[in-house]
Amino acid sequence: MKRFLIAPSILSANFAKLGEDVTNVVSAGADILHFDVMDNHYVPNLSVGSMVLRSLRSYGVSIPIDVHLMAKPIDRLISDFAAVGANYISFHPEATEHIDRSLQLIKEYGCKAGLVFNPSTTLNYLEYVMDKIDLIVLMSVNPGFSGQLFIPMILNKIRQTRKLIDNTNYNIDLAVDGGINIKNIHSILKAGATTFIIGSAIFGSENYYEVIHNFRSVLSN
Ligand code: DX5
Ligand code: ZN
Repeated sequence: MKRFLIAPSILSANFAKLGEDVTNVVSAGADILHFDVMDNHYVPNLSVGSMVLRSLRSYGVSIPIDVHLMAKPIDRLISDFAAVGANYISFHPEATEHIDRSLQLIKEYGCKAGLVFNPSTTLNYLEYVMDKIDLIVLMSVNPGFSGQLFIPMILNKIRQTRKLIDNTNYNIDLAVDGGINIKNIHSILKAGATTFIIGSAIFGSENYYEVIHNFRSVLSN
């Protein structure tokens, strides 16, 4: 298992040729695919649902997929996405009345569970559920759009979260989502992130292999 994972976010892919774009990013070295689901209710934008994930799986995409639910309510969606091949399902604590129950539901469906924190959302939500979480995602932009600027204050939040994780015996990945580029990835790494969710910096480039390779070189130094 690699220490650091690169997770391209489909939100910046070309949806008219999503299968091809995703296949190319996988051959270019992506570790996980980050699948952004937006409902125009929890966030002010609309993306795709479980049918599209099913199509990607039948197109032959076989790498692990993290479904990032930016939707409310979520419990129905958990079963839908588990049924079509999600490996991780991640949600925002504000999007469910019963965080513990939603985490348990994800586990019952055989997936790994992630909790996603908006830039201003407190980490206190973690206190009583650390044993049920496989992944913590810190948003470094406000959710809803790719191509936004990284919010520098999040570096402190990454450090804080890293300490929280290291004070437990649980094996929890720490992902950062939003505004990551070749200039800031090193500081995000140093702050303690292990998974790097990257949209526009990968899909907006001409050469996926080169850009992933460049990110990887920073991560291995
Ligand atoms: C934003 C999404 C992100 C986004 C990242 O709501 O959760 O995954 O697509 O894109 P960039 O890297 O362009 O900020
Ligand atoms: Zn995302």
